[in-house]
Amino acid sequence: MQITINQKKVTIECSKSSAEEVSADASIFFLEEDSKRINSLAKNIGADLKKEEFNGSFDKSIILPSAGKLRSRYVMMIGLGKKDKITTETMRRAAAIAAKRTVEAKYPKVAINLHGLPEKYTQPVAEGFFLSLYSFDKYKKKREFLLDKITICGEGLQKSIESSIILSESVSFARDLVNTPASDRTPKIFADVARKECKKYNLRFRAIGKNEAGKTGLNAFLAVARGSSHDPFFLILEWNPRAKRKIALVGKGITFDSGGLDIKPADSMLGMHGDVEGAAVVLGTMTAAARSKLPLHIIGIMPLCENMPSGSSYKPGDIIRAYNGKTIEVINTDAEGRVVLADALAYAEKKYKPEAIIDIATLTGACVIALGHEAAGLMGNNEKLMEKISAASSSTDERVWQLPLWDDYRELVKSDVAEVRNTGKERGAAGPITGAAFLEAFVNKTPWAHLDIAGVTLYERNKYYMPRGSTGWGIRLLHRLLSDWK
Ligand code: BES
Ligand code: MN
Ligand code: ZN
Repeated sequence: MQITINQKKVTIECSKSSAEEVSADASIFFLEEDSKRINSLAKNIGADLKKEEFNGSFDKSIILPSAGKLRSRYVMMIGLGKKDKITTETMRRAAAIAAKRTVEAKYPKVAINLHGLPEKYTQPVAEGFFLSLYSFDKYKKKREFLLDKITICGEGLQKSIESSIILSESVSFARDLVNTPASDRTPKIFADVARKECKKYNLRFRAIGKNEAGKTGLNAFLAVARGSSHDPFFLILEWNPRAKRKIALVGKGITFDSGGLDIKPADSMLGMHGDVEGAAVVLGTMTAAARSKLPLHIIGIMPLCENMPSGSSYKPGDIIRAYNGKTIEVINTDAEGRVVLADALAYAEKKYKPEAIIDIATLTGACVIALGHEAAGLMGNNEKLMEKISAASSSTDERVWQLPLWDDYRELVKSDVAEVRNTGKERGAAGPITGAAFLEAFVNKTPWAHLDIAGVTLYERNKYYMPRGSTGWGIRLLHRLLSDWK
């Protein structure tokens, strides 16, 4: 098998042998705190390892020369911490530590030992390892990336490793797309990249341009797009259109959010090329679905445009008639994500009649205030769907936290002059929820859920397998949700 990491092809081999018998630069072992295994491994290579040097506590690691006793040159021990505290997330993070040490030491070949670990840890280890090797460096002098071959040692690995490769590549692809500066990744460029991906993985692709969008009545989408000199594109991707069961994914694709006429201050504007994350996550999920041949009809909708101030921008006070006929009073042009999603949600429901619609969007700064970078806000009109999302979330450790959508919140987005207003009536109150209450007005009866991912992407610093910038949060979760769909 092969995985592309930082534009380089890396060979992945599954092996039933023990990592001690594989020829590599380093053999990597994951070890519980105070496990006997630590000493026996050390003894094997004639090392006198003291408890103070390494005892297997989490976040600790050590590299010892194998002194010709093994086929690999070094043994790398990675601490997992106390046995009863180890989770799939511990494994992903531990694997990230191993990957970082591998890169620092410039080992071209490593063997990862999974013998003796529960099978449910195979995929987390592989994902954690692959995902943490990502780096956004296409604008930098070529960095040396020597890693060439990873041998994974254990039983029954094939399927989990294949999934890990597909998911890691999809996540890295989304990260690259989002991290690319807005001037180099306009709606047109995003659409072209998406078209290419669709060709590669056999997905149906359609791009609705400005004129056709006008004829179709995607007026809310076009209102936001109007201020920019870059033309908008409304993308519709489909996987497996013959399948009976249909799910629609909708991703916010603001390729740059300046705020529009309600322009953002400099501090808040920096990083707003990342406002396209939702769309990139939908695209990544679609290619992952295609590559793993999911037996569902999946529709991916991505409204792509820039939110810019100019003589042709939409204005505070404007009243727009959305695709479903509802009118929107524009209170603040910086609440643009919900305006483009209004059309996208209504379009998904009317055209495809899916059994569920899930939208994913960097929608509100208030969600970052509420949950920090640790969880996405989850809201919706259907408890069952939200439970499914929570279940998928527990297995991929991309945390979600449900926020309520009570009628009193719905009141806050009612407008005096239109059906809805694009910000809440009580200034700043319940930001993520009023965002969701607005979106809800554009779905009729279809079970719908909304993920506010403003906090779980666009990191300021690296954190284990999540890099600075775009994290690609949600691709693994949505893929799990769709894989388990019943
Ligand atoms: N794209 C922003 C939300 C955002 C903020 C994402 C920080 C990632 C990090 C969104 O379009 C926005 O500007 N929201 C406003 C809404 C307000 C005007 C009701 C916000 O959060 O201030
Ligand atoms: Mn905005
Ligand atoms: Zn935005």
